[in-house]
Amino acid sequence: MVRRVNIAIDGPAGSGKSTVARTVAKKLGFLYVDTGAMYRAVTLKAIQEGIDCNDYDALTDLARRSRIDQEAGHNGALRVMLDNMDVTQAIRAQEVNHNVSLVARVPGVRKHLAALQQAMAANGGVVMEGRDIGTAVLPQAEFKFFLTASPEERARRRLNDLLEKGYNLKQQQVIKEIMERDRIDSERATDPLKPAEGAKVIDSSLLSIDQVVNLITDAVSGEGTG
Ligand code: DC
Repeated sequence: MVRRVNIAIDGPAGSGKSTVARTVAKKLGFLYVDTGAMYRAVTLKAIQEGIDCNDYDALTDLARRSRIDQEAGHNGALRVMLDNMDVTQAIRAQEVNHNVSLVARVPGVRKHLAALQQAMAANGGVVMEGRDIGTAVLPQAEFKFFLTASPEERARRRLNDLLEKGYNLKQQQVIKEIMERDRIDSERATDPLKPAEGAKVIDSSLLSIDQVVNLITDAVSGEGTG
Protein backbone atom coordinates (compact mmCIF):
# COMPACT_ATOMS: atom_id res chain seq x y z
CA MET A 1 0.00 0.00 0.00
CA VAL A 2 1.26 3.46 -0.88
CA ARG A 3 0.83 6.09 1.80
CA ARG A 4 -1.76 8.71 0.81
CA VAL A 5 0.74 11.48 0.24
CA ASN A 6 0.21 14.55 -1.94
CA ILE A 7 2.11 14.81 -5.21
CA ALA A 8 2.65 18.20 -6.87
CA ILE A 9 3.46 18.23 -10.59
CA ASP A 10 4.29 21.60 -12.17
CA GLY A 11 5.63 22.60 -15.55
CA PRO A 12 5.01 24.66 -18.68
CA ALA A 13 2.44 24.00 -21.40
CA GLY A 14 3.17 20.86 -23.41
CA SER A 15 5.59 19.39 -20.86
CA GLY A 16 3.38 16.29 -20.70
CA LYS A 17 2.33 16.93 -17.12
CA SER A 18 -1.42 16.37 -17.66
CA THR A 19 -1.04 12.90 -19.13
CA VAL A 20 1.65 12.04 -16.60
CA ALA A 21 -0.34 13.32 -13.61
CA ARG A 22 -3.51 11.53 -14.74
CA THR A 23 -1.65 8.25 -15.25
CA VAL A 24 0.20 8.49 -11.92
CA ALA A 25 -3.10 9.12 -10.11
CA LYS A 26 -4.73 6.15 -11.81
CA LYS A 27 -1.82 3.83 -10.95
CA LEU A 28 -1.78 4.86 -7.30
CA GLY A 29 -5.56 5.12 -6.90
CA PHE A 30 -5.19 8.82 -6.02
CA LEU A 31 -7.42 11.76 -6.93
CA TYR A 32 -6.23 13.71 -9.99
CA VAL A 33 -6.73 17.49 -9.93
CA ASP A 34 -6.08 19.63 -13.02
CA THR A 35 -5.72 23.18 -11.67
CA GLY A 36 -5.23 24.66 -15.16
CA ALA A 37 -8.79 23.56 -15.91
CA MET A 38 -9.98 25.79 -13.05
CA TYR A 39 -8.21 28.86 -14.50
CA ARG A 40 -9.66 27.91 -17.87
CA ALA A 41 -13.19 27.68 -16.46
CA VAL A 42 -12.93 31.17 -14.94
CA THR A 43 -11.56 32.45 -18.26
CA LEU A 44 -14.43 30.89 -20.21
CA LYS A 45 -16.96 32.54 -17.93
CA ALA A 46 -15.16 35.89 -18.27
CA ILE A 47 -15.39 35.62 -22.06
CA GLN A 48 -19.06 34.65 -21.86
CA GLU A 49 -19.80 37.62 -19.61
CA GLY A 50 -17.69 40.01 -21.69
CA ILE A 51 -15.38 40.86 -18.78
CA ASP A 52 -12.14 42.65 -19.68
CA CYS A 53 -9.06 40.54 -18.83
CA ASN A 54 -7.44 43.67 -17.35
CA ASP A 55 -10.27 44.25 -14.88
CA TYR A 56 -8.79 42.54 -11.81
CA ASP A 57 -11.70 43.33 -9.48
CA ALA A 58 -14.33 42.00 -11.87
CA LEU A 59 -12.29 38.82 -12.48
CA THR A 60 -11.79 38.24 -8.75
CA ASP A 61 -15.51 38.68 -8.15
CA LEU A 62 -16.28 36.36 -11.04
CA ALA A 63 -13.99 33.63 -9.65
CA ARG A 64 -15.63 33.92 -6.23
CA ARG A 65 -19.12 33.48 -7.61
CA SER A 66 -18.22 30.50 -9.82
CA ARG A 67 -18.77 26.90 -8.89
CA ILE A 68 -16.07 24.72 -10.38
CA ASP A 69 -16.05 20.94 -9.95
CA GLN A 70 -13.98 18.15 -11.41
CA GLU A 71 -15.58 14.73 -11.71
CA ALA A 72 -14.33 11.42 -13.02
CA GLY A 73 -15.83 11.09 -16.52
CA HIS A 74 -15.60 8.26 -19.05
CA ASN A 75 -12.35 6.21 -19.15
CA GLY A 76 -10.96 8.01 -16.11
CA ALA A 77 -10.87 11.34 -17.98
CA LEU A 78 -11.91 14.37 -15.96
CA ARG A 79 -15.19 16.14 -16.53
CA VAL A 80 -14.99 19.83 -15.69
CA MET A 81 -18.19 21.47 -14.47
CA LEU A 82 -18.76 25.23 -14.31
CA ASP A 83 -21.89 26.27 -12.44
CA ASN A 84 -23.17 22.71 -12.91
CA MET A 85 -22.63 22.75 -16.68
CA ASP A 86 -20.19 20.49 -18.48
CA VAL A 87 -17.43 22.71 -19.95
CA THR A 88 -14.82 19.98 -20.52
CA GLN A 89 -14.58 20.77 -24.24
CA ALA A 90 -15.34 24.49 -24.09
CA ILE A 91 -12.38 25.30 -21.83
CA ARG A 92 -9.96 23.99 -24.50
CA ALA A 93 -11.11 26.49 -27.15
CA GLN A 94 -8.50 28.72 -28.77
CA GLU A 95 -10.14 31.83 -27.33
CA VAL A 96 -9.61 30.43 -23.84
CA ASN A 97 -5.98 29.53 -24.69
CA HIS A 98 -5.39 33.13 -25.72
CA ASN A 99 -6.78 34.69 -22.56
CA VAL A 100 -6.11 32.23 -19.74
CA SER A 101 -2.63 33.53 -18.85
CA LEU A 102 -4.08 37.00 -18.45
CA VAL A 103 -6.75 35.76 -16.06
CA ALA A 104 -4.16 33.64 -14.19
CA ARG A 105 -2.13 36.81 -13.46
CA VAL A 106 -4.84 38.16 -11.19
CA PRO A 107 -3.88 37.75 -7.49
CA GLY A 108 -7.51 37.62 -6.30
CA VAL A 109 -8.35 34.83 -8.76
CA ARG A 110 -5.24 32.88 -7.73
CA LYS A 111 -5.97 33.28 -4.04
CA HIS A 112 -9.51 31.99 -4.42
CA LEU A 113 -8.60 29.02 -6.62
CA ALA A 114 -5.60 28.10 -4.45
CA ALA A 115 -7.87 27.88 -1.39
CA LEU A 116 -10.21 25.52 -3.26
CA GLN A 117 -7.22 23.42 -4.35
CA GLN A 118 -5.85 23.24 -0.81
CA ALA A 119 -9.21 22.00 0.44
CA MET A 120 -9.21 19.24 -2.19
CA ALA A 121 -5.79 18.04 -0.98
CA ALA A 122 -6.51 18.34 2.74
CA ASN A 123 -6.88 14.57 3.25
CA GLY A 124 -3.92 13.56 1.07
CA GLY A 125 -3.95 11.06 -1.77
CA VAL A 126 -3.97 13.76 -4.47
CA VAL A 127 -1.94 14.24 -7.63
CA MET A 128 -2.27 17.93 -8.43
CA GLU A 129 -0.86 19.51 -11.58
CA GLY A 130 -0.36 23.16 -12.44
CA ARG A 131 2.23 25.91 -12.35
CA ASP A 132 2.46 26.85 -8.65
CA ILE A 133 1.43 23.69 -6.83
CA GLY A 134 4.85 22.96 -5.31
CA THR A 135 5.68 26.62 -4.69
CA ALA A 136 2.40 28.10 -3.42
CA VAL A 137 -0.61 25.76 -3.23
CA LEU A 138 0.94 22.70 -1.57
CA PRO A 139 4.45 23.71 -0.49
CA GLN A 140 4.27 20.90 2.11
CA ALA A 141 3.49 18.21 -0.48
CA GLU A 142 5.54 15.10 0.21
CA PHE A 143 6.59 14.86 -3.45
CA LYS A 144 7.21 17.67 -5.91
CA PHE A 145 8.10 17.32 -9.55
CA PHE A 146 8.81 19.90 -12.24
CA LEU A 147 8.40 18.61 -15.79
CA THR A 148 10.08 20.36 -18.69
CA ALA A 149 10.77 19.66 -22.35
CA SER A 150 12.40 21.65 -25.13
CA PRO A 151 10.17 24.34 -26.74
CA GLU A 152 10.21 22.42 -30.05
CA GLU A 153 9.06 19.20 -28.39
CA ARG A 154 6.39 21.01 -26.41
CA ALA A 155 5.11 22.72 -29.55
CA ARG A 156 5.07 19.37 -31.37
CA ARG A 157 2.98 17.79 -28.60
CA ARG A 158 0.61 20.75 -28.44
CA LEU A 159 0.24 20.74 -32.21
CA ASN A 160 -0.67 17.04 -32.17
CA ASP A 161 -3.29 17.69 -29.47
CA LEU A 162 -4.79 20.54 -31.47
CA LEU A 163 -4.78 18.62 -34.75
CA GLU A 164 -6.55 15.73 -33.01
CA LYS A 165 -9.19 18.19 -31.88
CA GLY A 166 -9.67 19.42 -35.43
CA TYR A 167 -7.73 22.69 -35.22
CA ASN A 168 -5.58 23.38 -38.24
CA LEU A 169 -2.57 25.37 -37.01
CA LYS A 170 0.99 25.79 -38.21
CA GLN A 171 3.92 24.65 -36.03
CA GLN A 172 5.38 28.18 -35.99
CA GLN A 173 2.11 29.61 -34.75
CA VAL A 174 1.92 27.01 -31.95
CA ILE A 175 5.54 27.69 -30.89
CA LYS A 176 4.73 31.40 -30.75
CA GLU A 177 1.59 30.83 -28.66
CA ILE A 178 3.36 28.49 -26.23
CA MET A 179 6.30 30.86 -25.78
CA GLU A 180 3.96 33.78 -25.15
CA ARG A 181 1.94 31.85 -22.57
CA ASP A 182 5.13 30.69 -20.82
CA ARG A 183 6.46 34.22 -20.80
CA ILE A 184 3.34 35.61 -19.09
CA ASP A 185 3.16 32.63 -16.67
CA SER A 186 6.85 32.92 -15.72
CA GLU A 187 7.04 36.69 -15.46
CA ARG A 188 3.88 37.41 -13.48
CA ALA A 189 4.31 38.85 -10.00
CA THR A 190 2.13 36.34 -8.13
CA ASP A 191 3.30 32.72 -7.92
CA PRO A 192 5.07 32.53 -11.29
CA LEU A 193 5.96 29.29 -13.01
CA LYS A 194 9.23 27.99 -11.53
CA PRO A 195 10.51 24.80 -9.91
CA ALA A 196 9.69 24.58 -6.20
CA GLU A 197 12.45 24.20 -3.67
CA GLY A 198 13.20 20.51 -3.40
CA ALA A 199 11.35 19.65 -6.60
CA LYS A 200 12.79 16.93 -8.79
CA VAL A 201 13.18 18.39 -12.28
CA ILE A 202 12.44 15.91 -15.08
CA ASP A 203 13.24 16.81 -18.70
CA SER A 204 10.78 14.71 -20.69
CA SER A 205 12.07 15.68 -24.16
CA LEU A 206 13.59 12.28 -24.73
CA LEU A 207 11.45 10.19 -22.37
CA SER A 208 8.19 8.38 -23.02
CA ILE A 209 5.13 9.07 -20.89
CA ASP A 210 5.58 5.66 -19.25
CA GLN A 211 9.18 6.40 -18.36
CA VAL A 212 8.21 9.66 -16.66
CA VAL A 213 5.29 8.00 -14.88
CA ASN A 214 7.58 5.25 -13.60
CA LEU A 215 10.14 7.75 -12.31
CA ILE A 216 7.39 9.33 -10.24
CA THR A 217 5.62 6.20 -9.00
CA ASP A 218 8.96 4.57 -8.13
CA ALA A 219 9.92 7.61 -6.04
CA VAL A 220 6.56 7.61 -4.28
CA SER A 221 6.36 3.84 -3.71
CA GLY A 222 9.96 3.68 -2.50
CA GLU A 223 9.39 6.28 0.18
CA GLY A 224 5.73 5.90 0.89
CA THR A 225 5.25 2.23 1.73
CA GLY A 226 4.18 1.01 5.10
O1 DC B 1 -2.15 23.69 -17.81
P1 DC B 1 -3.04 24.56 -18.68
O2 DC B 1 -2.45 24.84 -20.03
O3 DC B 1 -4.44 24.05 -18.78
O4 DC B 1 -3.09 25.94 -17.88
C1 DC B 1 -3.82 27.03 -18.36
C2 DC B 1 -3.26 28.33 -17.84
O5 DC B 1 -3.53 28.49 -16.45
C3 DC B 1 -1.77 28.53 -18.02
O6 DC B 1 -1.52 29.62 -18.88
C4 DC B 1 -1.21 28.88 -16.67
C5 DC B 1 -2.39 28.96 -15.76
N1 DC B 1 -2.21 28.17 -14.55
C6 DC B 1 -1.68 28.79 -13.46
O7 DC B 1 -1.33 29.97 -13.54
N2 DC B 1 -1.56 28.13 -12.29
C7 DC B 1 -1.92 26.84 -12.21
N3 DC B 1 -1.78 26.19 -11.04
C8 DC B 1 -2.43 26.16 -13.33
C9 DC B 1 -2.55 26.86 -14.50
